[in-house]
Amino acid sequence: MDSNEVNKLLGGFLGTCFVIFSIGLVSDGLFASPAPEKPGFAIEAQEGTAGGPVAPAAEAKPIADLLAAASADKGAAIFKKCQACHSGEKGGPNKVGPDLWDVVDRPVAEHAGFAYSSGMKDFSKGGQEHWTYDNLNHFLTSPKKFVKGTAMGFAGLPKDEERADVIAYLRTLSDNPKPLPAPGAAADASKPADAAKPAEGAAPAAPAAPAQ
Ligand code: HEC
Repeated sequence: MDSNEVNKLLGGFLGTCFVIFSIGLVSDGLFASPAPEKPGFAIEAQEGTAGGPVAPAAEAKPIADLLAAASADKGAAIFKKCQACHSGEKGGPNKVGPDLWDVVDRPVAEHAGFAYSSGMKDFSKGGQEHWTYDNLNHFLTSPKKFVKGTAMGFAGLPKDEERADVIAYLRTLSDNPKPLPAPGAAADASKPADAAKPAEGAAPAAPAAPAQ
């Protein structure tokens, strides 16, 4: 073998290496499987609505009316869906989501030892916002629509009855269940202070015409 042949062999070998290496690079690019941003899995189950239009949230019935007809027992069964990520016992562990013991009227994003998303922290306004029946109702209808950027990977409970049942059940997870809102009251009657309405017969908004 003279050095020319050795050179050709070496050249061929290096060429082959180059081709194999390039194919590797390209296919890595094509079939890349980046690691998920968050560990764990999101349950994005959508209730079957068989193509029918979903009622817009804007027309949602007030939670007080829904709760008046709700069943905590049925809610306990629905809560199984939540238990993939939440415990509900007193002093229970934080799982993928925070423990939900005594969550009704609890300040938002304040459960000890849980690292909330910045979306949920923004929504909590530093702990001023509470999980009123009304907030729970909106949040559980469509978590990501109501709390932008929430880490709760759950599609929501669009069916009024299921949602009300599960909220009725959440209410029972307490030593001191919060009073139910009065049916027929305004949707946001359970909100603190800012829900106050002007008293009947208050001064009309338009300024009176000046006397001639
Ligand atoms: C796939 C996991 C998952 C499922 C299923 C799930 N959640 Fe969550 N939940 C979370 C996570 C994660 C958070 C924290 C959200 C954040 O920090 O943005 C959360 C937060 C909450 C909060 C706010 C708690 C607080 O301390 O501010 C409530 C209330 C809640 N979930 C109720 C429910 C209910 C009721 C169900 C069932 C109908 C449910 N969740 C199903 C993961 C889940």
